[in-house]
Amino acid sequence: MSDSSSAIQSVLVENRVFPPPEALVKAARISGMAGYEALCAEANKDFEGFWARLARENINWTKPFTQTLDESNAPFYKWFADGELNASANCLDKHMGTPVENKTAIIFEADGGEVTKVTYKELLARVSQFANALKARGVQKGDRVLIYMPMTIEGIVAMQACARIGATHSVVFGGFSAKAVQERIQDAGAVAVITANYQLRGGKELPLKAIVDEAIASGGCECVKTVFVYERTASAWARVAGRDISFAEAVAGQSTECAPVPVEAEHPLFVLYTSGSTGKPKGVQHATGGYMLWAKLTMDWTFDIQPSDVFWCTADIGWVTGHTYITYGPLAAGATEVVFEGVPTYPNAGRFWQMIERHKVSIFYTAPTAIRSLIKAADSDEAVHPGKSDLSSLRILGSVGEPINPEAWMWYYKNVGQERCPIVDTWWQTENGGHLITPLPGATPLVPGSCTLPLPGIDAAIVDETGNDVPNGSGGILVIKRPWPSMIRTIWGDPERFKKSYFPEELKGYYLAGDGAVRDAKTGYFRITGRIDDVLNVSGHRMGTMEIESALVAKSDLVAEAAVVGRPDDLTGEAICAFVVLKRPRPTGDEAKQIAKELRDWVAKEIGPIAKPKDIRFGDNLPKTRSGKIMRRLLRSLAKGESITQDTSTLENPAILDQLAQNN
Ligand code: WTA
Repeated sequence: MSDSSSAIQSVLVENRVFPPPEALVKAARISGMAGYEALCAEANKDFEGFWARLARENINWTKPFTQTLDESNAPFYKWFADGELNASANCLDKHMGTPVENKTAIIFEADGGEVTKVTYKELLARVSQFANALKARGVQKGDRVLIYMPMTIEGIVAMQACARIGATHSVVFGGFSAKAVQERIQDAGAVAVITANYQLRGGKELPLKAIVDEAIASGGCECVKTVFVYERTASAWARVAGRDISFAEAVAGQSTECAPVPVEAEHPLFVLYTSGSTGKPKGVQHATGGYMLWAKLTMDWTFDIQPSDVFWCTADIGWVTGHTYITYGPLAAGATEVVFEGVPTYPNAGRFWQMIERHKVSIFYTAPTAIRSLIKAADSDEAVHPGKSDLSSLRILGSVGEPINPEAWMWYYKNVGQERCPIVDTWWQTENGGHLITPLPGATPLVPGSCTLPLPGIDAAIVDETGNDVPNGSGGILVIKRPWPSMIRTIWGDPERFKKSYFPEELKGYYLAGDGAVRDAKTGYFRITGRIDDVLNVSGHRMGTMEIESALVAKSDLVAEAAVVGRPDDLTGEAICAFVVLKRPRPTGDEAKQIAKELRDWVAKEIGPIAKPKDIRFGDNLPKTRSGKIMRRLLRSLAKGESITQDTSTLENPAILDQLAQNN
């Protein structure tokens, strides 16, 4: 049995159940399954009334809404549409005059270990001052601002400042290339870029500003009028006169007060690019009202956040998890949160555990990929084992971004949570805004490898290709049958693609998640089996196979054709495997190695290092049907090292399979 099928097998026979700790059941907001079911029943009975109640209780509206859900132009749903609010005011201003104002909002730990703390009051002043700096450079409500920042307090300030003046931010992960930055500037029509001279990761200083310069110099970015540069390090950076301004210069003389601009509930708070199954990345557009409701609500429901908690989400603000569970959710909840600049393995692989001890973290939210790599590190070096740190402050653990295999789940539960802390395995997507299917820490009995049950009001189901429900126990397509407040509103500038990608006609108007899933025959618990489209999940990062293929063929002096598939990987979940036909004879030996390296570096330049293929195999051609279609399912088997048992009778060139089965 291959590794992946044994892993699947072990989930199928998974019968360990971990009930929530008694004390948590008593104290949690949603107490026991009865508490969960009561909320579900309320949502069932009066769907709109349920959301209206929560939106009134959790959001400060400058103008109250009168209409909850507008389905008149489905699937372009609108929520709370005639209401007005400001997202930043819902994170900061609302705490002023309460005991939270002098509470620590952010504990920032730098790559090198220095710790800086800011209170809510101080954060409000910094956000307001930077918001004034944006305005001074002409940025206003409705403008788009691209943010390309390291994990710093300033990164959060930049996002919050945009929200404060009604500008729509689009954060690009600091690991993406100049080309990716250029495409996103163009697609969003950004009027300003907020970046840093350098970022610090794992003791290394890596450029950011120079990449922005390269992106803008590549053309088509005339929309950018200002580049704000946070000087993270003392290193010099090249200045384009009239366009570039440092943070210090930009805020000099600016007031630390800035009235938040009320925006309509549907006003785009942000556009975040993510990979789809076809073509270029999609700009997922989120609305202000519904999204902010979700950020706040899921902090309460999923994390049961309490005033004394220290919350730590290890994601980057460049991903949706960082948006919802670093920049908006924890602040909307008035929590103290840890923000970490560096990487989990520097200066050693015990960094996470040491930081939990140092900052007395009580809720820790990370990705399976990080857990798997830290298991490996702890296995080979006792000194970085979580058992070496005092983790007694922890009360809830979380997982996000990819399926967590039961083995990793058990290790996390035992060694980090010390069998005391529930693990909330949160399933959701960039398009969802926040958690949709997840255990609740004071209610749901846990099963390793299962994200358990949908949140109240979320109508998740598993259907077949025609949109009909499949019985529990059989796998199918994961859909959400009814809209929810924090759902994607559209793809920026491409409403047709939005409709086609997420609401295909054959699925009866349901939201298509793009994941496969199965519900347990007895409990109805959901288990996600992975993407059913051409999207890969590598270390929790979403990547389109087509995107990587186009990057490869863009090296047109060398590459004639390329096909990219994923294969299971113990550490990264999936690994990228590229099959390449060159414009020269098929290379072997050292030449193949050298060209493979060249192609990997090329992909890193085109997209970013996270998109580098792990395997590159060269062939004289690719397995195609007689009508010229590449047979990807065969390539997937080859990538896994399986022998081909599928029907190959429609294959034009069966001999190619032997050649491609060989690794260079
Ligand atoms: C996967 C990240 C299993 C899934 C928040 C989804 C998961 C994609 C889980 C979205 C989970 C996320 N269990 N799979 N708990 N969480 N996924 O947009 O395939 O970066 O479609 O959002 O990650 O990735 P995205």
